[in-house]
Amino acid sequence: MIRKLALAALGALTISAGATWAAESSEGHIEDHAFSFEGPFGSYDQFQLQRGLQVYTEVCSACHGLKFVPIRSIGDEGGIGLPEDQVRAYADQWEVFDPELDDYRNAKPSDHFPPSSLENAPDLSLMAKARAGFHGPYGTGINQFVKGIGGPEYIRALLSGYTGEEKVEAGTTYYENTAFPGGWIAMAPPLSDGIVTYQDGHEDDVEAIATDVAAFLMWTAEPKMMARKQTGFAAVLFLGLLAVLLYLTNKRIWAPIKRKVKPAHGA
Ligand code: HEC
Repeated sequence: MIRKLALAALGALTISAGATWAAESSEGHIEDHAFSFEGPFGSYDQFQLQRGLQVYTEVCSACHGLKFVPIRSIGDEGGIGLPEDQVRAYADQWEVFDPELDDYRNAKPSDHFPPSSLENAPDLSLMAKARAGFHGPYGTGINQFVKGIGGPEYIRALLSGYTGEEKVEAGTTYYENTAFPGGWIAMAPPLSDGIVTYQDGHEDDVEAIATDVAAFLMWTAEPKMMARKQTGFAAVLFLGLLAVLLYLTNKRIWAPIKRKVKPAHGA
């Protein structure tokens, strides 16, 4: 019986290991990056998120939308944290469709970011979660606990993974990319060195810009991550304390009975 069980378990392990291997081999190459928000105590880097917002606004928003993200959330604590007047000024540069007016008008902080303007460009609100890259070992998610979910790493690798090769197939141009599953993507390389000039006047190379916008897209996918981690930490602390108290209570309740039983055992 035990031998049969062990064999079955071994079989299952081999199959799942094979499946993971197959999945990995068809996907592109994604390198780990130590983002500030990873691990149980990580937190967002406010200035990195502000740079990422600027990259999204100046580059990605030409094609991609963020329709699930309310503009006012760029003023939230624990995230981008812009002051209220800047949030209002930022909202004002977007145009959104108002069904009541049946026309476009300037956005207010209470509106969401506009949806994608290019039909085949996916909405990026939840992309960092949809493309979680780390699942292992064997789908246990332990990797995610230590290195983060891998979604921002995927976006970073995607944006800096162009080889420069392109091909035209059925009228669409595809660009070779080392991170994109399948190796060819319909998005032209959106970044180049120095494509944005940050507010303090400095410029960055593609990899640094990709890192900032990837962090920003992690924030759009999980804007309340800091609150979640704090609550989680408090809960674990409380449960730990409760466990110790329950253990001691248990000992105390059973102490008189256990004392009586012991000599009988020894005899
Ligand atoms: C000129 C339009 C255009 C711009 C600008 C652009 N993209 Fe894209 N993007 C696309 C299109 C089109 C696709 C779909 C490609 C495909 O499925 O082959 C895409 C796909 C993606 C994907 C999804 C890849 C996947 O795994 O399916 C991500 C992530 C992405 N873009 C991020 C960005 C970021 C970040 C920026 C800004 C730095 C950006 N894009 C700028 C057109 C654009």
